[in-house]
Amino acid sequence: MNLEYLSGFGNEFASEALPGALPVGQNSPQKAPYGLYTELFSGTAFTMARSEARRTWLYRIQPSANHPAFVKLERQLAGGPLGAVTPNRLRWNPLEIPSEPTDFIDGLVGMVANCGSEKPSGISIYHYRANRSMERVFFNADGELLIVPEQGRLRIATELGVLEVAPLEIVVLPRGLKFRVELLDAQARGYVAENHGAPLRLPDLGPIGSNGLANPRDFLTPVAHYEDPKQPTTLVQKFLGELWACELDHSPLNVVAWHGNNVPYKYDLRRFNTLGTVSFDHPDPSIFTVLTSPTSTHGLANLDFVIFPPRWMVAENTFRPPWFHRNLMNEYMGLISGAYDAKAEGFLPGGASLHSCMSAHGPDGETCTKAINVELAPHKIDNTMAFMFETSQVLRPTQFALECPQLQPSYDACWASLPATFNPNRR
Ligand SMILES: [Fe+2]
Repeated sequence: MNLEYLSGFGNEFASEALPGALPVGQNSPQKAPYGLYTELFSGTAFTMARSEARRTWLYRIQPSANHPAFVKLERQLAGGPLGAVTPNRLRWNPLEIPSEPTDFIDGLVGMVANCGSEKPSGISIYHYRANRSMERVFFNADGELLIVPEQGRLRIATELGVLEVAPLEIVVLPRGLKFRVELLDAQARGYVAENHGAPLRLPDLGPIGSNGLANPRDFLTPVAHYEDPKQPTTLVQKFLGELWACELDHSPLNVVAWHGNNVPYKYDLRRFNTLGTVSFDHPDPSIFTVLTSPTSTHGLANLDFVIFPPRWMVAENTFRPPWFHRNLMNEYMGLISGAYDAKAEGFLPGGASLHSCMSAHGPDGETCTKAINVELAPHKIDNTMAFMFETSQVLRPTQFALECPQLQPSYDACWASLPATFNPNRR
């Protein structure tokens, strides 16, 4: 199936799967075309500033209200509650993909979060591993989902239409949007940031100007697509961290037409217009921000999604790897492909690292030694895509993350081999 997409970011999009299904001139006519029901899907409070407001009008075969009571599922999300607090730097090897049948929901495992799931705030971060398509439909009442595939292509059927994503692409699903994740390959693995704060948006560009970084036209939203099977569907929701389900006699992916700006979208990370220095030093990594969820404090992000794409390094007389630093923000890094330029080994595609508020980090010993001694010439970092979920509140690992065998026991050692180069007699 060749999918169609609508291009742009934050637009008031409109789409219909049947001609004339979208009412014209009003949102809620007495009788919607084709006998459809009208439903408003609000992603922000009604009274937010117009620039912040997200909502979509849905014209659907059955309204979402037509469901029986949800019952708490026996099988809950993996990862468990948050574990002990630690200021230590942590790094994980990639989680294995299970051999028993595992869909996207069963394969989600909580790794770190700002807050316990009963009081969601800030962000929560999961890894997913799956080896079969979902047969049920899911929505997350707790936040917006940013999915970063590392292995395997996904077909994501949503209320608003179908998106296909592959590694090096990302997808964002608004809070509460119903969807089903199907696998287009035998296995899938990747990362999920759950954003409990303001919806993700493009960062302001300041002196950069009106172009650069992620450009709005490269964000793709699906066109309307509905299903109307005469068979029951299980609808699962996550509500305050717990999974609940009910049985519907219809598919909840039954929206025939819609218009609005509370929409899912995908983005190809290879389209990111990477900027950097052409003289010396390098800018703060905020120059690599794809999407941001702001807080009410100007410039302080609830979540920044930052990537480290292929790019030319041309800075003169400069220590070129990411500098040693300590940060107010909390950094959870993942690797989609290739190698990350600050680490010689130990940080693998599918793996992750956590550097919490004020924990010191930077290039490992081997990378640092090489960078100090290398003859500087224009050099391209290629075939790589690392990323970072950065947040202003401390990320606490789950019990699973602290106890799993993938947690590396000696991450600190990668800085222990930094050479002693100080010599008071040689400037
Ligand atoms: Fe950092």
